[in-house]
This record gives sequence, structure tokens and C-alpha cells, in this order.
Amino acid sequence: MQLKSKVDVLLGLQWGDEGKGKVVDVLTPHYDVIARFQGGPNAGHTLEFNGMKHVLHIIPSGIFHPDKLNIIGNGVLIEPRILSQEVAALREKQVDAKHNLYISKKAHLILPSHRLLDAANEQAKGNAKIGSTLKGIGPAYTDKIARTGLRVGDTLEFDFCEKYELLKLQHLQMAKTLGFDTAAFRIDGMTLEEYEQQWMASLDLLRSFHLINSEYFINDCLRQGRRVLAEGAQGSMLDVDFGSYPFVTSSSTVTAGVCSGLGVAPSSIGRVMGITKAYCTRVGAGPFPTELFDDTGRTLCELGHEYGATTGRSRRCGWIDLPALRYACMLNGVTDLIVTKPDVMNDFDEVLMCDSYLINGEKTDEIPFEFNAVEIQPNWKHYAGWKQSLAGIESFDKLPQRLLDYLHAIEEATQTPIMAVSTSPDRKDTLFK
Ligand code: IMP
Repeated sequence: MQLKSKVDVLLGLQWGDEGKGKVVDVLTPHYDVIARFQGGPNAGHTLEFNGMKHVLHIIPSGIFHPDKLNIIGNGVLIEPRILSQEVAALREKQVDAKHNLYISKKAHLILPSHRLLDAANEQAKGNAKIGSTLKGIGPAYTDKIARTGLRVGDTLEFDFCEKYELLKLQHLQMAKTLGFDTAAFRIDGMTLEEYEQQWMASLDLLRSFHLINSEYFINDCLRQGRRVLAEGAQGSMLDVDFGSYPFVTSSSTVTAGVCSGLGVAPSSIGRVMGITKAYCTRVGAGPFPTELFDDTGRTLCELGHEYGATTGRSRRCGWIDLPALRYACMLNGVTDLIVTKPDVMNDFDEVLMCDSYLINGEKTDEIPFEFNAVEIQPNWKHYAGWKQSLAGIESFDKLPQRLLDYLHAIEEATQTPIMAVSTSPDRKDTLFK
């Protein structure tokens, strides 16, 4: 089959929160279609422009461009009530999502009882909690793989309510087995039954969208030469196969996930743009070799406003981790790097990079299988800070030389060229090389 264009991919190379929302928004003018391929309302993609800030969870970040199509692909999980809240929040900003948002009939649903089960699973883990966003991601993907899930298209069927009740019953039984107090459980301050009523009411809105077979739709777009951008959520180090398992999310966050999450062939993948912060953050539990527990870590958190867009939790902060970044570049086939938030480190006397790990006295460049279990000592490289504000700098080559040196070191370490640097949350502060 002759395709006239390819799917470009934009995804996070760390543990999420790299600034994907902003970058997708900046790149959107170059594309016709923006498509989410995995994850769900655990994501929080923040966009800022014209003095306005907006957080998206399920809806692709191209929604603010009325002439662009946005697609929620089959690999995404949809929580109808969260979707309806997002649609309402957009309406307040005069954005009519109905106009340019299409949804795959094959996308799976997050039921209220998936959220209950998420809480029950986390509680049962005790000290080994993953730090889930508790949006029901793990249990909903579990049902998908177990072939017991419900999909968007199922809401159009006459027996949907019957299937829903059966699945809910299973979830409640599982929660009971885990010793979870379902009566005390609340979502947004509501009991399961109260929340369920609102969830059910949101199905009407869901059904009123263009519900499509997105795999045909996207391949048709490619045949016609329309440009498609796949927008990743979370980050490569949270990938269910390659991340720091079990401290991961439950989807394929890497480029491979684009193929299964949108229904496109590997040969139709074009450029792969990978985003990394100039430092590193992680929210939730799990290994983080370059984590800082001192004032520098706290400064990164404060100046970088490192608080979860979905949960409000403060993020753990540390220096950039090159073994992890190299790993992510390898897994994704990154063709272009985008570096965000170097401005957070403007006042630092020096900035550090973890170049390799020392594990049991042995130097390694690789992420070990025992990532969670072994003690990892980072080998540091020190760089002089640029000690300068980046505000008002309008081109890449006008960036301070010391920052350029730092960026060059990232390119060298990953053998991947930097395509752009983001120097503030605002759309306009994105400097292409
Ligand atoms: P879940 O996907 O909500 O089950 O969360 C699993 C792990 O992934 C937890 O450590 C979360 O904090 C983390 N996580 C999930 N989504 C995001 C995200 O969008 N950004 C950063 N971390 C995330």
C-alpha cells in the first residue's frame, strides 16, 4: 500500500513530565492530525499561551488548533467522566472539542470500579506501593489483556449495561478479596454509586463524538499525504516492558506503542522526537539513581514547579541521567532530541550529569535488570553553570556558550542531534536549532 506520508512521533524519554504538552502544541502547526496512542487520564499535559494555562489528560494537545484533527487512538484508556470534565473546561475557553476530536471505538473504558480496584491494589501492596495516579490505569489495561474489558464501541450496544454490571461485580469481588473497604471508598468525594451515576451520564457525551475505526482513518490520512503526529504520554522509563518494572505504568510508552496504539505499520513511522528535561524528575516510587535529596533537589523542585499536573504530588528531582537517556534513545529510535527547562538551572554555579553507573564497583553504561534492587552510584561529570537568564533569547545560537556546551555533551552522549530547546512554559519560548 502506497503511503504518501509517515507518522512522526513525539514522546518523553524520562519518567514523564518532560513537557510534551507544550512541545506538541508548538509542533501542531506542522501537522494535520495529532493522535494519542497510549495511557489515559494518568497523563497531565500542560499548555501555556497568551497568558493562559491549560492541562489536558486524555485529549490530544492539538485541540487548541481548530483546523487540526485530534484522535484518541485504540491504545488509549478513556474515563468518560474525566473526558466530559475536560470537554467542559475547554468549552469555558471557547474551544469546542466536538468539532475536531475523533475517538477510536476500540479504545478501552476505565470504569469507576477500575479506580476502586486501583486503590485496593495499591493499599494491598503496603510499603511496595507503585505510587499510581489512581485513575484506574493498571486494572483497565489488565482487563484489556485479559480480554474482559469494555470498549468505547461497546457503549453503542444494547447489552452494554449488562456487561458493565458483570465486570463491576468481578471488580468488587476482587477488592473484597484484597480486604478493601469499598463502602469507605471515594472518588472526588463521591461514593462509588454516586460517581457511577455521573460516569453513566457522561456516556451520552462520549457517544456524541465521532467514533471511528481510527486505524483505517489514520492509514487513509497517510495515503492522502496528511501529516500525523503521535503524542506520547508518561515516559520511556515508565514503559511496561522496559521501564523500572514494576514501578511503571501499564502501557507501551515507546515508539513501538505507536504501531499497536494507532494501528500503523512500523514502516510508516517517520521522525521520532524525544523530549528530555535538562535535569530529571520522577513522581511515584521506584529507582532514580540521580535523585538529589539536598537543597539543589529542592531548588529544582521549587523553580521547576515540579508538582504533578494530575495529582499535585511533588516530584522527586535530580541531575540528568545519561545511561537512562541513551537507553530511551535506543528503544525509541530517536532521530531528534528536544531539551526542556534548562532555564530552571540558570542560577546554578555548576550542573552535573550522570555519565555512567558504578554497580558493585563495576562501571556500566547499561540499565541493569536489577535496577530496583542494586545500589547504583552515578559517575558524575561537572559543567560550569551559565549563570544567566534565558528570557528574551530568540534563537538557539544566542544561548549562553556554557549552556550550548552542556547541550552538546547530551548530543555526544546520546549520539542524537538536538532539534530544539524550550526555555519557558510559553509556546513562544521554543528555540529551534
Ligand atoms: P499509573 O499509570 O497511574 O498506574 O501510575 C504508575 C506510575 O507511573 C506511578 O509511579 C505514577 O506516578 C507514574 N505516572 C503515571 N502517569 C504519569 C505521568 O503522566 N507523568 C509522570 N508519571 C506518571
